[in-house]
Amino acid sequence: MASMEGLIGLMNRIQRACTALGDHGGGGELPTLWESLPTIAVVGGQSSGKSSVLESIVGTDFLPRGSGIVTRRPLVLQLHQTDDGSQEYAEFLHMPKIRAQTIISLYCGAARVRQEIADETDRLTGKTKQTSPVPIHLSIYSPKVVNLTLIDLPGLTKVAVEGQPESIVQDIENMVRSYVDKPNCIILAISPANQDIATSDAIKLSKEVDPTGERTFGVLTKLDLMDKGTNALDVLEGRAYRLQNPWVGIVNRSQADINRKVDMISAREKEREYFESSPDYAHLASRMGSEYLAKLLSEHLESVIKARIPSITAVINKTIDELESELDTIGRAVAVDPGAQLYTILDLCRAFDRVFKEHLDGGRSGGDR
Ligand code: GDP
Ligand code: NA
Ligand code: MG
Repeated sequence: MASMEGLIGLMNRIQRACTALGDHGGGGELPTLWESLPTIAVVGGQSSGKSSVLESIVGTDFLPRGSGIVTRRPLVLQLHQTDDGSQEYAEFLHMPKIRAQTIISLYCGAARVRQEIADETDRLTGKTKQTSPVPIHLSIYSPKVVNLTLIDLPGLTKVAVEGQPESIVQDIENMVRSYVDKPNCIILAISPANQDIATSDAIKLSKEVDPTGERTFGVLTKLDLMDKGTNALDVLEGRAYRLQNPWVGIVNRSQADINRKVDMISAREKEREYFESSPDYAHLASRMGSEYLAKLLSEHLESVIKARIPSITAVINKTIDELESELDTIGRAVAVDPGAQLYTILDLCRAFDRVFKEHLDGGRSGGDR
């Protein structure tokens, strides 16, 4: 699947270029380029385990934590699989040119990544704990990840806390909705197993925007926190709430694990052991856990991109035309930043278009990097 990996990589670069140009969806009748690209959005109530699931998929803990509404801007997280043995690093799109070149090793730099997400959130929202729909882009390059783009969204909440405007409840719902409304959005709906599934904010919202459940992946966290003598088989086997895609059960690190600094590798091992040794879930063990979830999502994203090739190509061709005429207006000779960014996105669109055509011509693998 070398060439499909190339496709996800190219898509990641186009998404970054879109943000640089201020296109993060929202607005007009016609889909913007950003909106035409498939993405995976992580949705759920506060403390349902969203950040934990994201970190398990990446295999590194780098997200800000704390009580209250920590995620106040969307985080577009692009995972790039690199060759075995290569160094792991993270890169923010918003960092000034020179700093963007500096790599932050995740082994020693996860705390820096975490701090930068928090700082960049505050840069736009102020310390007032407001929210903003403008996304932060973070790329992670690692041999341990699968190629995937995930969007972390603020947790759905029912009440504003001390110091937050009343409107925050609705603001967050609107923001989450603006992502999951899009037919191209794959919804990773996180619900904690220690709460009744009927009360899950994630399922409530996904039911509304995706009634057939074809673009929703149900993720059940906190299986280890269920009352003794109960289990989640009704949900995991699709009887309680049916989705087109299989439910995936997860056991993340508990708060005590985090305080004791249990690392992600031991956490994954512990999770695998949990399923394999569980009398309730052993028969499902090969289809449970964060590693399986990451693989499932990557494969799904690939198939969605394949299916969407014609419609993405249409938007890209339209964008190429628009960009070309915009460049004519700016004047091609002027080497100012906006022009340079347009050139970048134009090049990317052309590359994307070329790769798509190769796929349509019978899937010959192309030199798409
Ligand atoms: P978010 O607000 O949805 O991003 O939730 P977090 O990922 O920050 O998790 C909230 C709290 O629940 C943290 O203290 C986690 O350690 C804990 N937690 C999340 N998932 C699990 C799980 O599967 N099992 C246990 N025991 N604790 C979990
Ligand atoms: Na929830
Ligand atoms: Mg969180």
